[in-house]
Amino acid sequence: MREKAPGDEAGRAAAARMALGEVRAGMKLGLGSGRTAEQFVRFLGEKVKAGLDVAGVPTSERTAALAAEVGVPLTDLDAMPHLDLTVDGADEVGPGFRLVKGGGGALLREKIVAAASDRMLVVVDETKVVATLGAFPLPIEVVPFGLGATRAAIVRSAAGLGLNGDLKLRKSGEAAYLTDGGHFILDASFGRIPDPDALARALDAIPGVVEHGLFIGLAKSVIVGRGGTADWLAP
Ligand code: A5P
Repeated sequence: MREKAPGDEAGRAAAARMALGEVRAGMKLGLGSGRTAEQFVRFLGEKVKAGLDVAGVPTSERTAALAAEVGVPLTDLDAMPHLDLTVDGADEVGPGFRLVKGGGGALLREKIVAAASDRMLVVVDETKVVATLGAFPLPIEVVPFGLGATRAAIVRSAAGLGLNGDLKLRKSGEAAYLTDGGHFILDASFGRIPDPDALARALDAIPGVVEHGLFIGLAKSVIVGRGGTADWLAP
């Protein structure tokens, strides 16, 4: 996982607790990754212990382990290809509920699970809400084969959109960080991404890019926590 700013822990907890109010008995849930989503999974575990019947599809091995520990029944997208609700965190929430995700390295599974859900509900603390995406370096998941060529293609495409910045291979100690899918992550420090839709299209077109952390048109609602309270973010 990449180093994250401490943010507002009480805000994360308040947002995660409020999200519980959207869960109904019998729901098939996508379970996000990261600190806020993990808080939601812990709260959900308490409800399950009290008798709530739900099943969850985890977006990372880490979330799977936590869900098992707190007693949330798990399934997968082969058994349940269609989910009711996904609750997940984000690294940035911009205009139109466009997101940057992947600080924890789980963006690929997170996007697959969100896309399989009727509704993606995002839970963040207020430090994540921004006017323009891009201050948080954009995670781009790439296949290890051909890394140099894929990196060069990303640099060229981004430059065509007026975006320049360092592309850093994410590390875990001395070695390259490996995602749950066995891929690398390049963290792209563009600074500002004025047109995330164009960048997403450009990245989607590059062979070797498995996924990127721009989530566009997926989040249907956002809960923002600050201090011990939380509220819906206006679209
Ligand atoms: C995981 O890959 C990410 O997309 C997380 O959802 C994101 O980094 C937010 O995590 P926190 O809730 O820990 O800030």
